[in-house]
Amino acid sequence: MRNLLSIADLTNDEIDEIFDLADGADKLRTDKSAADQIMATLFYEPSTRTRLSFESSMHRLGGAVISCSDMKASSAVKGESLADTARVVSSYADVMVVRHYWDGAVQAMAEHANVPVVNAGDGSREHPTQTLCDLYTLKKEKGELRGLTVVVCGDLKNGRTVHSLVFALARFGAHVVTLAANGMELPHYVLERLEREYGYSLAPVASDDLSGVVTETDALYLTPKQPHQLALFTQVDAAMQSRLNTMVSGLRYDAFYMTRKQKERMKEGTTGGTYPTIGPSFLKEHRFKDTVVMHPLPRVDELSPEVDKDRRGIYFKQAANGVPVRMALLKFLLNRRETKRIAGKRTASFYESPERLGPKCTNPNCVTVTEPASTRRRFELLSGGPGGALLLGCIYCNHRFKVQFVGHVKSKRYCAYDIALADTIRGWLKKDELAIFDSIKEAEELGYEPYKSGPQRTVMDEQEIQAAVREMSRQILRECQDPDRLLILGIRTKGSYLAQRIAGELAAQRRQKPEAGEIELYGAGDEMRRIFPDDEDAPALNLKDREIILVDDVIYTGRTVKSALSILFRSGRPQSVRLAVLIDRGHREVPVKPDYVGKHIPSSEKERVRVKLREAEHDEKDKVVIYSMISPAETQAETIA
Ligand code: CP
Repeated sequence: MRNLLSIADLTNDEIDEIFDLADGADKLRTDKSAADQIMATLFYEPSTRTRLSFESSMHRLGGAVISCSDMKASSAVKGESLADTARVVSSYADVMVVRHYWDGAVQAMAEHANVPVVNAGDGSREHPTQTLCDLYTLKKEKGELRGLTVVVCGDLKNGRTVHSLVFALARFGAHVVTLAANGMELPHYVLERLEREYGYSLAPVASDDLSGVVTETDALYLTPKQPHQLALFTQVDAAMQSRLNTMVSGLRYDAFYMTRKQKERMKEGTTGGTYPTIGPSFLKEHRFKDTVVMHPLPRVDELSPEVDKDRRGIYFKQAANGVPVRMALLKFLLNRRETKRIAGKRTASFYESPERLGPKCTNPNCVTVTEPASTRRRFELLSGGPGGALLLGCIYCNHRFKVQFVGHVKSKRYCAYDIALADTIRGWLKKDELAIFDSIKEAEELGYEPYKSGPQRTVMDEQEIQAAVREMSRQILRECQDPDRLLILGIRTKGSYLAQRIAGELAAQRRQKPEAGEIELYGAGDEMRRIFPDDEDAPALNLKDREIILVDDVIYTGRTVKSALSILFRSGRPQSVRLAVLIDRGHREVPVKPDYVGKHIPSSEKERVRVKLREAEHDEKDKVVIYSMISPAETQAETIA
């Protein structure tokens, strides 16, 4: 049985097959291709196009439609679970089409249904059938998808249509330019997947290339060609900065894909700010003369009705194509009811905790959080996160987060995850002996005890740390062009504490405290937030033309810094970014060089370097320690003996 929950559920050949079927929609209609079949539509969120075009498609295929006219009038309001609803409705219908406001809710229902389930939009995650309509329309207009450059514009954070679309464009070899409204950039998990699965890298686009579309933020170019790597750029390296700015200038834009602000997914009070718009000035720009304008609709005021009359406005064609494309999709799925195979990426093996307690998704809108009873806690396990981190990818909502603690099921020992354990962990995973915990409390509640480590050697004491922070602050002040433009940004958690100390030193040296903030990689909330001033009414951090000092406690592989830079890049265009670290361990996988270093401590992968700060440790003084890990396997042997 085949479901369509993500665009990843279809191969490129299958998408082409669906488009061929859509071309012959008249024949599907004459043949009554779905006679005697019933489709159930369950829309927990409002819809005009998706619902009506699915229902129209089923009628045209000769089938019948059953539906809850309003899910608020269904037993969902009595508290019926998604799992039970799916079980029951799938005994009344041959295919189910579901829209839901929770990320991953449709996947949860598909796991309990015994008929094909189609995702008609789940939370801010994906809307794969909209993407089929978009690709079909774009292909009709431009002939080929490979090599096209498509600008996706507006609310890229919450717009699920955009998430499915960028994955599909990447798979068909198109280039993507993101032009996000301020604070509504593509989520990190989407960019991470584009990089990991399709080799897409990210670079800035020259800012005057996109005049004609009003926006506060800069555009970013996503391409498989890797014209240049994301780099740390400094005012000292002005040539590099200018090369980055000009390298992707002069692009030919084939399509603008505009989206509305998804107010229904935003917290109250966060819906303000300027938003890109397309209107008459866009139409007059010579460089956009062959650029088609697309929109999944409904539109609000980001797309002027002036564009409706222009041959380049093709969004009503997109909506009209909803019927032949969805007729084709229904025919495709109903033909494959007995097929077991699931396309491409989704055959990967998943991690499921062998213990009663285990990791939880950090996305508060994920169905595993909102309705855990209808789900199973399964994750993709991904190596190579920032600083060599091990990442978990929730299979329902695709959000990624860092593994905190790992345990060995047989010896009942646990420790904080570290890159030094990568090989050991792979072995445990193969034998189904890997436990992952979000906290020490969880591990200890299950009777796990901590692993032993080797003896610790102090390599920096309290005075040395204080002197290093002071010296780095002096250098920062000496080298900055305009102290009023300084922004000290720490990488959470220890980088944030050090950033605050540096900001404090700078305040002492020039009697004015610079603005300070923090970046959180793979956290549950905002990726970037202000620390100082901590005034609730202060506007969001603005990176434009700022001299940013990025601060972390330790640099090793350089991947943590790369991830932080990627967040900076898509949040604004600073004048310069310089890096300050307390410890440089000396090994690097990514070409990043810190500008300010407290101490160089060359160390191997088998060693751990830990910065202990009183803000985090409470009962301890500041110090930096180095120690070797005792292999968990050795500890296990000892435990068994
Ligand atoms: N494009 C789209 O999904 O429209 P509806 O919300 O009206 O279904």
